[in-house]
Amino acid sequence: MRTRILVAFLLVIGLSFYLVTVTTIHLVGDSLFEDTVQSGMSGVAELSAALGERVGAEPADAFYQRLLEAARTSGGRLLIVDMDGKVQADTFDAHCGTRVALSEVYTLLRGEQESDYGFHRVLGSAQEETWVGCFASALVSGGARVGALVMIVSVQDTVDSLTFMRDQMMVIFGITLAAVLVMAVLISRIITKPVAELSDGIERMSKGDYQHRVHVPGKGEMAQLAAAFNQMSEQVMSLDEARNQFVSNASHELKTPLATIKILVESMIYEDEMPAALRKEFLGDIDKEVDRLSSVVGDLLTLVHIDSHKLRLHREKMIFADTVRESVRRLQPLADKHAQTITVDIADPCEMFADPGKLSQVCYNIVENAVKYTPEGGSITVSLHRMGRDAVLEISDTGVGIPQEDLAHVFDRFYRVDRARSRDTGGTGLGLSIVQQIVRLHAGSVTVQSQQGKGTTFTVQLPVK
Ligand SMILES: Nc1ncnc2c1ncn2[C@@H]1O[C@H](COP(=O)(O)OP(=O)(O)OP(=O)(O)O)[C@@H](O)[C@H]1O
Ligand SMILES: [Mg+2]
Repeated sequence: MRTRILVAFLLVIGLSFYLVTVTTIHLVGDSLFEDTVQSGMSGVAELSAALGERVGAEPADAFYQRLLEAARTSGGRLLIVDMDGKVQADTFDAHCGTRVALSEVYTLLRGEQESDYGFHRVLGSAQEETWVGCFASALVSGGARVGALVMIVSVQDTVDSLTFMRDQMMVIFGITLAAVLVMAVLISRIITKPVAELSDGIERMSKGDYQHRVHVPGKGEMAQLAAAFNQMSEQVMSLDEARNQFVSNASHELKTPLATIKILVESMIYEDEMPAALRKEFLGDIDKEVDRLSSVVGDLLTLVHIDSHKLRLHREKMIFADTVRESVRRLQPLADKHAQTITVDIADPCEMFADPGKLSQVCYNIVENAVKYTPEGGSITVSLHRMGRDAVLEISDTGVGIPQEDLAHVFDRFYRVDRARSRDTGGTGLGLSIVQQIVRLHAGSVTVQSQQGKGTTFTVQLPVK
């Protein structure tokens, strides 16, 4: 493709140069020959006027001397041709008695024109070819045409300078064409190099090499394109890493309860004499693991839906206070088990236009965390109030708290502060990331404040409309 464009480009340049050269030589040649023709024609016309009446009237010798004199002053060779085309006098004394072979002479003799001219290539005295101009004018004596006067002048000098000029121009043409060729190759390299780099980068990326970066120096469009491409590669790379991380975390979370179930089931299979109480306990454990599996799968599905933008909000008019109370009611038995008290403080019912199912999940996840991460006998406070156009839900506990360095990560997927402790409480590290996504879908915000050993407060702020 590149070579074809280059060849076409060179052809156009070459052709234009050739046309310019040829036209210039023609124009210069025309103007040079026009001058020669004008002076030749006026010279021969003057001479024929002066000599016409003397033809036959003057003695032959005297007339020939006159002719020689005229030839010397005009700087050319003069011929007198009779009406038959025969040379009657030649200042070079060479062709007397022969018929001239010059077409321009015969047009005069036939009476078609008064004067005419032509250029011919003839053999010179040293047998070399030379260009001459022949200018003929009718000789009129006593009102009748008696022959023609022919003046022959050499135009070899003019032809030589034209040939020299043409050669010079051809040399210049050759050098320029070579320079244009070199420039075209260089420019096409400069232009196509970044394109080649980019297409190489795209090809590598399509094969899964996200590490590759393209380097296009400068600030031009290609450099901007390369920068955009590099940025895109980085994003694709981090997305790819995040996806791999997600798949590996998810598999790990599913593997653990499955391994536990397998151990429990195997011991029940191989231990024939298992006491009924122990069997019941094992079955209870399996039931818990199955619950955990289904909750992890449910959370994963929710996240996948959020990521693929399939999770739609089903907004309706709702009383946020009712949702909060309902979530607390569902978690009350768990809190009772840990001898914890949950205080609900509703300052405003917060009527709003939102998705009650999703907001219930938000409340449930945060209050469940509060219950899970607060020791026996602790207390949890759930308060709801209005602040301007926002509903503000605060969930505080007197639990273990979150270390400062972990606060920024609690909303990350699969993030657990204390992996061993969470494992006991059955956490996967997905609850808060789902909370954050749902709150964001509602154009709200969720923040956390915590003091290790003292307690944690989660604040959810949601626009009521
Ligand atoms: N109220 C809290 N007090 C102390 N630590 C908390 C509190 N809430 C969350 N955390 C910490 O943040 C981590 C992330 O919470 P998240 O709810 O996302 O996951 P999880 O509770 O471990 O698992 P699950 O997916 O079952 O909710 C928890 O593992 C816990 O370490
Ligand atoms: Mg949780």
